[in-house]
Amino acid sequence: MPNDSGSVPCGLRADVAESALAGLTASPKTLPAKLFYDAEGCRLFYAITKLPEYYLTRTETALLRSLGRSLLPDGLRGAALVEFGGSDETKARYLLDLRDGRGEPVFNTYVPIDVAEAALTELRRRMAVSHPHVTTVPLAADFMTPLRLPPLGRHRLGFFPGSTIGNLDPGAAVGFLAAARDSLGPNAWFLLGADLRKAPEVLLPAYNDAEGVTAAFNLNLLRRLNREAGADFDLRLFGHRAIWNADAGRIEMHLISTRDQTVRVAGRTIMIARDESIHTENSYKFTPRILRDTASAAGWEVQRAWTDPANYFGISLLRHA
Ligand code: AVI
Repeated sequence: MPNDSGSVPCGLRADVAESALAGLTASPKTLPAKLFYDAEGCRLFYAITKLPEYYLTRTETALLRSLGRSLLPDGLRGAALVEFGGSDETKARYLLDLRDGRGEPVFNTYVPIDVAEAALTELRRRMAVSHPHVTTVPLAADFMTPLRLPPLGRHRLGFFPGSTIGNLDPGAAVGFLAAARDSLGPNAWFLLGADLRKAPEVLLPAYNDAEGVTAAFNLNLLRRLNREAGADFDLRLFGHRAIWNADAGRIEMHLISTRDQTVRVAGRTIMIARDESIHTENSYKFTPRILRDTASAAGWEVQRAWTDPANYFGISLLRHA
């Protein structure tokens, strides 16, 4: 899974050809969004987070910076911060730097979970220098699978920033939050960053920027398949399209074929018609009510919620229901 702070997880070990073929032989055609994040996809995603149209990263970061200790439940001390999809500590630092009323660091343990083992090794090295009082215990794992966390103290806070929750379909989002609740154990807390519903005039440019970085990010998926799945996509024969699906409450990204064509993928021939779409990503946008319902279906209760003055992005503190 991506993170948006520059050092990105590029160690995905999905069976690329198999998952691509499954999607390309389905109707309508799809490709799994996790395939975006090869080295070039990571670089492009980082570039997206710096775009003027892509308000998500800077809005969430500003919230983390300005809210500081008020994001945390009262009485949290000697705590463990468990970051799901954390191959880079940039956002976690806003929490790891916090001190309690007696001036003691709130967190003494940091567990970043990510598939990118090499990035986790680097992270631990950086943390040893910048936060020597924090024990960093990276866990190389796919956070979408059941996890066994190392033994942690009484106070535990899960952390899932960036609105990565929005890239999961609603059932998977509930499944993820329920599994995180189980692995964090009783009486844990959870801080969740989620992009909020807003006017399509704001949402759409964030996924269809003037510079064409998001288009390049979308098309790069085909380049990856050419390299890793024995495919022969001609990238010039596809266009990037982002739409707001109001019924589903999500931005969708598609690659649209500009002509009838056949493509070879891992020894199979795939026919693609002119104007046919390959659906590559969903990015769900939340209302406070949907967030509450999603959390509660997973056994969490929204204890507090914050947003920026424009109501663009939300951070919610969840606790065991
Ligand atoms: C990683 N994720 C939260 C991004 C999003 O906004 O859904 C991925 C992305 N896709 C296009 N631009 C950014």
